[in-house]
Amino acid sequence: MLAQGYDIYRTRCQACHGANGEGQSAPGFKGIADRLSFEKHVEKVVDGVDGTRMPAWKGILTDDEINAVVRYEREVLGAKN
Ligand code: HEC
Repeated sequence: MLAQGYDIYRTRCQACHGANGEGQSAPGFKGIADRLSFEKHVEKVVDGVDGTRMPAWKGILTDDEINAVVRYEREVLGAKN
């Protein structure tokens, strides 16, 4: 699950969010689990954020893939930076 999340993060997310989730053109994930519920986190990935460069991943990633990358961001990157 986390290995799959890492693969997806590396190929789809890190260009904007940074290799270690430290943030680049997009925000970092430090402490994300404390400020965003799991459900809201999934929602942002599914729908993207209107008016910003954050894409909607619905139809590109499966539900399982979205769950995996969200867990990776919360459990690995959120704890790291
Ligand atoms: C093209 C650049 C880009 C890519 C690629 C990208 N994002 Fe984002 N993302 C953004 C930007 C910009 C924001 C900030 C939106 C805002 O201002 O609210 C954001 C916000 C987020 C947030 C909300 C963060 C918070 O603190 O509330 C999450 C979660 C997120 N992205 C997850 C992902 C995931 C997962 C992927 C890969 C599947 C991804 N992003 C790929 C640009 C990107």
